[in-house]
Amino acid sequence: SADLNPALLPLDWLLGTWESDEPGEGCFTTIKPFHYTETLTFSHVGQPVINFTFNAFHAETKKPLHRECGFIRMQPGANRVAFIIAQNSGLVEIEEGELTAQQLNLQSQALARVSFAREPHVQKISRVIQLRPDGRLEQTVSMATDNQPLMQHLHITYRRQAS
Ligand code: HEM
Repeated sequence: SADLNPALLPLDWLLGTWESDEPGEGCFTTIKPFHYTETLTFSHVGQPVINFTFNAFHAETKKPLHRECGFIRMQPGANRVAFIIAQNSGLVEIEEGELTAQQLNLQSQALARVSFAREPHVQKISRVIQLRPDGRLEQTVSMATDNQPLMQHLHITYRRQAS
């Protein structure tokens, strides 16, 4: 397989496949709290780009639910990271933010959706992805909608899968 593009060295800790170690927690004021499992993959083909997929499932029935895929790019010579994301709900987004050590702090910069997307519409997303000292990956996602301020929607931790 291709050598990792040196531009991506600061993000090498993401690469591989990650499985939720215990069910993630979903919440929002307007919905019933829920649990989910999720598999993440981060791969590359030698370009200065990481390809990713996030696939979430119902914790009990294992039915596929939310799915995201996209690309990660880094601004050359800077700590600025961009996620280019498509979601199965009909949402597309650009998130950008800073990489500090092994933590990414991302905010949505642009959001667009299909004309018939379900309401309420998301207006803002912020996300923290970090590698914890215990080797687990942790993701926290907050969102604001048409009628609710920015608050947490998701929290989950993952264990790296042997490749
Ligand atoms: C509900 C957005 C990721 C599961 C919602 C709602 C929105 C939303 C706007 C409706 C809230 C309301 O009615 O006030 C998003 C965004 C995500 C995301 C922007 C990613 C950035 C996920 C993931 C799961 C999930 C990974 C895992 C299974 C649910 C469930 C509900 C919900 C179960 C409640 C039932 C429903 O409305 O379908 N989400 N979501 N979401 N989300 Fe997410």
